Amino acid sequence: MNTLSINNLSLIYKNGYQAVKDISLDISNGMFGLLGPNGAGKSSLMKTIVGLQKPTSGHIIFNGTDVSKDPDFIKKNLGFLPQDFGVYPKVSAYDLLEHIAVLKGITDRNERKGQILNLLEKVNLSDFRKREVHTFSGGMKQRFGVAQALLGNPEIIIVDEPTAGLDPEERNRFNSLLNDISKEVIVILSTHLVEDVRNLCSKMAVMNKGEILRQGKPAELISELKDRIWSKPIDKSELENYLSSHEIISRQLIERELHITVFSEVQPTDFEAVSPLLEHVYFRTLTQKI
Ligand SMILES: Nc1ncnc2c1ncn2[C@@H]1O[C@H](COP(=O)(O)OP(=O)(O)OP(=O)(O)O)[C@@H](O)[C@H]1O
Ligand SMILES: [Mg+2]
Repeated sequence: MNTLSINNLSLIYKNGYQAVKDISLDISNGMFGLLGPNGAGKSSLMKTIVGLQKPTSGHIIFNGTDVSKDPDFIKKNLGFLPQDFGVYPKVSAYDLLEHIAVLKGITDRNERKGQILNLLEKVNLSDFRKREVHTFSGGMKQRFGVAQALLGNPEIIIVDEPTAGLDPEERNRFNSLLNDISKEVIVILSTHLVEDVRNLCSKMAVMNKGEILRQGKPAELISELKDRIWSKPIDKSELENYLSSHEIISRQLIERELHITVFSEVQPTDFEAVSPLLEHVYFRTLTQKI
């Protein structure tokens, strides 16, 4: 069993902006979802965990070793799929994996070849191994990204908003690939897609403005909202009134009609009961704190 323990981690950028504020998290094998809106600090936290930037204070302990004291330890055991992979050189998928494998320290030629062919198969890119990566579609690039992250059999894999921009079919394929991988390693998935966290993650945290606002098991967080979520279609002109009298956690157009969803310990007049969803947990967490 692998363990990642983040203790009182803070990160202040050179311009003085604090992107990570005193975060503590304990993560073990399985998929961990880091959910938060744009600018929450997800990428900042992930880049700090993988050692691309040094924390201002706090500790990251991976399998008992302090990563800031021994950065090579986590690097050797880590796969990272950054949010922005950058520009792909004009080389084939196979050659690029070969290059990355060498950088990761897989020195044995046969071992490298075996791993690369195996991974291309796993991410369904065997037929495209000779094609240059910059000609791949978005979904193929993401699957290539997973293949490079898996080189060297890492114990911890960090993927930063991997499904953004993928069509539903590619997204499903990608998610089931992550799900297969996560059985024996730690996978940390950052996203703003609540559904992905609900479908995939055994544990999760909600992050905003550099802070972790909630954490736990998705099903448990949802059950805390049982009999407390209510919904009603309203006229747009009534919204102002409802905003002052109710704790509105979301509003949504359904067939052009405005529906509001509120949190309340007792059933508000004329509202209908709604089964709580992870979306409600997420929106309530965000609206409570702002
Ligand atoms: N190098 C940097 N220097 C200064 N501020 C930065 C730097 N990188 C990020 N930030 C700021 O830190 C905050 C968090 O950014 P970050 O990219 O970590 O958020 P995020 O949760 O990954 O957002 P998104 O969902 O849009 O990817 C933002 O306000 C951003 O402007
Ligand atoms: Mg990001």
